[in-house]
Amino acid sequence: MDKHLLSINDLSADEAIQILNTASELSKISDGPMKKLPTLRGRTVVNLFFEDSTRTRISFESAAKRLSADVINFSAKDSSVSKGESLKDTAQTLQAMGADAVVIRHGASGAAQRLADSGWISASVINAGDGTHEHPTQALLDAYTIRSKFPDLKSDFSGLKVAIVGDILHSRVARSNVLLLTKLGAKVTLIAPPTLIPVGVVDWNVDVSYDFDSAVKDVDVLMMLRVQSERMADSFFPSEREYSRGYGLDIARLNSLKESAIVMHPGPMNRGLEISAESADSHKSVVLAQVSNGVLIRMAVLYQLLGGAAFTGEVSA
Ligand code: CP
Repeated sequence: MDKHLLSINDLSADEAIQILNTASELSKISDGPMKKLPTLRGRTVVNLFFEDSTRTRISFESAAKRLSADVINFSAKDSSVSKGESLKDTAQTLQAMGADAVVIRHGASGAAQRLADSGWISASVINAGDGTHEHPTQALLDAYTIRSKFPDLKSDFSGLKVAIVGDILHSRVARSNVLLLTKLGAKVTLIAPPTLIPVGVVDWNVDVSYDFDSAVKDVDVLMMLRVQSERMADSFFPSEREYSRGYGLDIARLNSLKESAIVMHPGPMNRGLEISAESADSHKSVVLAQVSNGVLIRMAVLYQLLGGAAFTGEVSA
């Protein structure tokens, strides 16, 4: 892997699988009595969050701590950014504090790339979500979760049918998942109202459907997306009720899925809008597994970026 993780495009299929395999090895440690590895002792990981987050920020913090790194949590709201401090000055302040890795979430697409290319810092940059562009560690944890439910897949997802449903237009999760799942060989169908499908989707190597019920009949993985109202200046559907009727996962739709199918959601969920409470809490839902696996994947990414190798199960002090 390169110095930074900004996009799924930074990874070959082999490199992505190596991250999943490293996470899998690390899970054996996490399940054992010694939860902490000394690998990143003396290293500093900064969580630089300009947008709100629950899962991503906490799991990066937990991952870094399990690898014995020091962690600095930086929330723009509680910092001098609220007084107008620029990204450059903020980044250089972190550099002066000795950051080895900066995990950045920002509302602007391309912010992580800007930080990595700027020369302002020498740390590794990890994109924890930039605008509507990408969220690569989310896609990696989703692929890890899928593989744990369909163990035959190993390093090749050919034959796997995935449907990603909802607000594709504003979803960095959808973009990163499409890139990764198609790279690994899965067949991906995007399902949404026409207003929530991006114009450039013809280049994405996916099928597109506007009809939920016919498109999900034989899928193995149903990935529901959050309706991102905070990014919608205009009205993209007539009403929440209409959206739910056309594209929400209710119990009848859940019951129409294949018995072996799983339901995913990156969170946070709008229960009652894109997913009903019964569906979110059903035996098909792997939402909480996604959260747990997020820690393992972020450990694997930090391990490989800062430790320099895939984890093979050997622990050195
Ligand atoms: N999936 C995800 O990115 O969740 P958070 O916004 O809570 O980090």
